[in-house]
Amino acid sequence: MSTTPPPAVTINGKTYHTDEWFNVPPGVLAATTRKLHLQKDHPISITRQILESVFPPPTYRYHNTFDPVVTTHENFDSLGFPPDHPGRARSDTYYLNATTLLRTHTSAHESALFRAAASPGYLISADVYRRDDIDRSHYPVFHQMEGARVWDRRLVPGGDLAAAVLADLALLPTHAVPVEDPNPPSHPDRNPLQSEHHTAAEAAAIAAHLKRSLELMVVEVFTRAQAAARAADPAFVDEPLRVRWVEAYFPFTSPSWEMEVYYDGGWLEVLGCGVSRQGILVDAGQPESVGWAFGIGLDRIAMLLFQVPDIRLFWSRDARFTSQFEGVEGDLGRLRRFVPFSRYPPCYKDVSFWLGKEGEVHGNDVMEVIRGVAGDVVEDVVLTDEFTHPKTGRRSRCYRVNYRSLERTLTNDETNELHTRVRDALVERLRVEIR
Ligand code: DAH
Repeated sequence: MSTTPPPAVTINGKTYHTDEWFNVPPGVLAATTRKLHLQKDHPISITRQILESVFPPPTYRYHNTFDPVVTTHENFDSLGFPPDHPGRARSDTYYLNATTLLRTHTSAHESALFRAAASPGYLISADVYRRDDIDRSHYPVFHQMEGARVWDRRLVPGGDLAAAVLADLALLPTHAVPVEDPNPPSHPDRNPLQSEHHTAAEAAAIAAHLKRSLELMVVEVFTRAQAAARAADPAFVDEPLRVRWVEAYFPFTSPSWEMEVYYDGGWLEVLGCGVSRQGILVDAGQPESVGWAFGIGLDRIAMLLFQVPDIRLFWSRDARFTSQFEGVEGDLGRLRRFVPFSRYPPCYKDVSFWLGKEGEVHGNDVMEVIRGVAGDVVEDVVLTDEFTHPKTGRRSRCYRVNYRSLERTLTNDETNELHTRVRDALVERLRVEIR
């Protein structure tokens, strides 16, 4: 994508030189100052606090002000991402320069916190950045919470790590939500034990502590979501919550799982987690510590909790949005579902183009050009057609752009003008030819 980078950018008071890797548009740079997870009475901040309440200090320490700018080492290498991992691509990640980027996940801070070893557990909440599609549940900036808990082998009574972890598990509350967990605690091919570092009993104990902790977290959130739904509609019939554990893969945990929650008629994937890879703890100077880690997206949880239908609303400064949550932070019992203030009409416009001779255009680049022109007025963009001309071999794509403001009705003239500018920007920045 052709852009002339500014020579340097300043984020949260620090200046970074740019190079040919730079690909952060002004709208995304501006979002780095918003810190919605810390904004009083904001649904993202309220959601963060509900999750934090399940992981009490002093065992868990909260870290909510880490800078979004990290190194490629922190975001990828320190976590064991291979050099050719697709997440590193410029099409997926916002770079300031070849070795500096906007974190794509809160796991970027794992290694530093393991190294600091200031508490046995921690939670990190922060804004994270990814180039992606445009639709009602994707935004280039969203929020995650990372959590971890470790035990130091040298400090466990009698040197029996598994027993110590199980003793901590016994101190956790229980819950009555049915859990499906059909797989063994580890599996040699699908979900291996780190056998050079953990006995099967140790890994099973860590996994059990991890799973109970995270079940308690989602039970807390979804029970509140159901209470809010009942408050909005006394006739609301809550389907009983159900949780299930699915085997997964992450470069920084093994074995690994995803948790899914049955809510409102379907299974939702809510988080990823696992037994931390020992190499990360060794590299962080903690070879004697073993433990677990998880990561959860806050925006989708907040959308469910408050029934917010479009992720763009979280960025709205419209009082009809923000005022609905006033006071909730101080009194979580007042949690209520969001009441949509209006739904303005959609306006669909197509844009069809031939790809230039230079070849590939990444879908995320198309999304970003459109967002760069029309900003939050675009609700979603769908690739509706793609073909190769049988004679000339030229490739064509058609995207359908839905222009719909969350705050007002757009006029025809306004939408036409935006769409013309979108087409011009696609030609200029991606070297495509409008059909
Ligand atoms: N960082 C992962 C993501 O963004 C989420 C995650 C998965 C975090 C497993 C973890 C973990 O700490 O153990 O998709």
